[in-house]
Amino acid sequence: MTTVNSEKLSSARFAEATDAFVEEFTASVNFDQRMAAQDIQGSIAHATMLKSIGILTATELDAIKGGLGQIAGEIARGEFVWSIKQEDVHMNIEARLTDLIGVAGKKLHTGRSRNDQVATDIRLYLRNEIKHIDVQLHRLQTAILDLAEQHFDTIMPGFTHLQVAQPITFGHHLMAWFEMLSRDYERLQDCLKRINVMPLGAAALAGTSYPIDRQLTSDLLGFSRPSANSLDSVSDRDFAIEFTATASLVMMHLSRFSEELILWASAQFDFIDMPDAFCTGSSIMPQKKNPDVPELVRGKSGRVTGHLIALLMLMKSQPLAYNKDNQEDKEPLFDTVDTLINCLRAYADMVPHIKAKKENMYLSAKRGFATATDLADYLVRKGLAFRDAHEIVGKAVRLGLDSQCDLADLPLLELQQLSPLITEDIYSILTLEGSVAARKHLGGTAPETVKNAIHTARVALNELGKISVNKGC
Ligand code: ARG
Repeated sequence: MTTVNSEKLSSARFAEATDAFVEEFTASVNFDQRMAAQDIQGSIAHATMLKSIGILTATELDAIKGGLGQIAGEIARGEFVWSIKQEDVHMNIEARLTDLIGVAGKKLHTGRSRNDQVATDIRLYLRNEIKHIDVQLHRLQTAILDLAEQHFDTIMPGFTHLQVAQPITFGHHLMAWFEMLSRDYERLQDCLKRINVMPLGAAALAGTSYPIDRQLTSDLLGFSRPSANSLDSVSDRDFAIEFTATASLVMMHLSRFSEELILWASAQFDFIDMPDAFCTGSSIMPQKKNPDVPELVRGKSGRVTGHLIALLMLMKSQPLAYNKDNQEDKEPLFDTVDTLINCLRAYADMVPHIKAKKENMYLSAKRGFATATDLADYLVRKGLAFRDAHEIVGKAVRLGLDSQCDLADLPLLELQQLSPLITEDIYSILTLEGSVAARKHLGGTAPETVKNAIHTARVALNELGKISVNKGC
């Protein structure tokens, strides 16, 4: 076991030791140690820059790199002793470095503050996590496309107000989910642009009197540029809020998917069979197969939205520049990242195993007069004004309700009593197949259109996959 220097780094000014409870209360090491790799990465870049401007010698830089490398190993092996006395990840690592290499370790913090250091660490951390999120998002989108391809012509009822509205294809419904996730992906990439800016050099708040080369540090860390204002760099966490807002939207979408899967898996809908591996039984009711994964994901969406509100409230009353309040940004942020990755992963694993019960979907679409609009459109094509057609179809639905049959099963004579414009050809229009096939414009539910939409989406997704492979994701 290794030990760390137990002296407080900032203790010289103080006559009294920190109260033991306050020490624990103010420490963040129990959770911010998650950013240790980024802290080390940032320190190596900072030290390299310090050497380039002559503040560190080559020997000191080597010692710092060697020491930080050893610390990274200790952390990876679980041997590093984290100490509350050193408050946070930054001071723990620096103290250990000084234990290991002596005076060169004490020079690492030249021209830097924990304020720009922590802002840098969070940005590096988020940048990296977004790559993992992208991987799961991509897997889920691929799974949705595969399922949509199997069901490009599977007919189901489409709903508004959760009442049967018009027939649609299951492939089309799945592609709606795909679209939502595509926008989520774009939002993540857009937010990455503002995350990928480098705060180091802002120091505590006003910058530093050393002739630092911020462009070099930024290049070494792969940031797109150094930040433009030192006060802003150490204080704002809008990038973390933006990320959490994006995550909340993804979770809101996953929650809506969940809601539908839960409904569809019920005996009342019976549209899908959920894979056993993603469901659990009941401890008391032997017949139960509960859709636990979608239910949990739906529940967890509330937690991520809660984190978004927490971060907004955290930021809203802070005067410039850094305030200790900001230490509260990490737990909501880390939990957002974990929750999002886990939920996306669960969905990406589960979706390929969802089985659609085609006959049930079809039969359900036949109930509820889903082709009523098609009858109205037919009458309009024969010269009637839409409102008048609407009225006639309302009467036809009434007839169907009274005789408990679908529009397509009403005798021609009865339909003709409602409007002489109706002829034998109405029956091809009133079929579910006819109804979906007619909606063949861009964005419509016709099987051929859905097939094209899937193809276009797959090409675009593969392109994105290639881009992220090139970016080293
Ligand atoms: N642990 C602190 C945080 O998470 C690091 C910055 C502390 N800076 C300070 N001046 N106390 O924000």
